[in-house]
Amino acid sequence: MTDEIAVIPGDGIGQEVVPAAVEVLDSVGRFEFTEAEAGDRVKRETGDPLPEETYDLAASADATLFGAAGESAADVIIPLRRAVGSFVNVRPARAYPGVDALRPETDVVFLRENTEGVYAGHESRLSDDLSTLTRVVTTSASERLAGFACDYVEERGYEGFTVAHKANVMRETDGRFRETVLGVADDRGIEADEVLMDAFATHVCLDPGQFDVVVCPNLAGDVLSDLAAGLVGGLGLLPSANVGAENALFEPVHGTAPDIAGEGVANPGAAILSAAMLLEHLGYDEEADRVERAMTETLADGPRTADLGGDATTEDVTTAVVDRL
Ligand code: NAI
Ligand code: MG
Repeated sequence: MTDEIAVIPGDGIGQEVVPAAVEVLDSVGRFEFTEAEAGDRVKRETGDPLPEETYDLAASADATLFGAAGESAADVIIPLRRAVGSFVNVRPARAYPGVDALRPETDVVFLRENTEGVYAGHESRLSDDLSTLTRVVTTSASERLAGFACDYVEERGYEGFTVAHKANVMRETDGRFRETVLGVADDRGIEADEVLMDAFATHVCLDPGQFDVVVCPNLAGDVLSDLAAGLVGGLGLLPSANVGAENALFEPVHGTAPDIAGEGVANPGAAILSAAMLLEHLGYDEEADRVERAMTETLADGPRTADLGGDATTEDVTTAVVDRL
């Protein structure tokens, strides 16, 4: 059976890096690609940034590859994560040889809660002076995240994981998160330690080598993984996976990069590494390894795009990766 992959390039450089990732996937396996629209462009044409057929396609495909959306990003990516039932956002931040990184020893994987916290959408304007936000933390979502984290470290041979939280201040919500995640780890016999998320921000800059897998609430995972992106040489290389029980969506961490969109010079690395995560998710471990290796070797030997100090185009880099495959 051929896997069906939904392809949603979106706006800006999504239109450039997603085709690059599709070319790479096409060179290692046989997939049925179905393309769909989302983002600012389709919103201008139809009034809707996420057409129903795109939502349905992501919900039914074996996996989805997404690029980025512009101003409408929140109206696109949050429903799309819901379409695939995603409960965890996996964000590896790894420095690659040959890339000028602030902290070349960085190799940290963030497992970010993907459904609740302060991103649950409960905001209110109560008066001209006052707005509020309700933070949602459930035992069920925390348990599901912790179960995934235990499987993740077991399958990949990590010693354990670190839980980042702020339970000393948000005693009820992060108290529940902390207690639940540590409890699941304890039941499963997985080693888990903990760190206050603000202290983590300092520690990961000064000594990233001490962290492997970090389990975080939603907002903390978003911010701390972007911080780690800065340690490894920028957004052009950070892939991510939104994993659900049966379905998943893969996307570069970066956005539409309006400053370089349309010039054909975007780094396709993050999208190609997202495609490698997609391959692994579908059970093509060997192909996933090959893609990651081809990308790593290309980063080390060149050609490189301008964000990494080179002058190659998106196409030059993609061709170099495909040639190695
Ligand atoms: P951005 O990630 O698009 O760009 C930040 C900087 O990084 C820019 O200088 C850009 O040129 C550079 N950059 C990013 N990816 C690159 C790549 N592959 N190769 C080379 N350089 C790259 O973030 P920004 O500027 O904050 O947002 C731009 C737009 O993207 C906004 O409309 C925002 O809403 C949207 N966005 C969408 C996301 C999504 O769809 N998941 C995520 C983040 C932003
Ligand atoms: Mg972000």
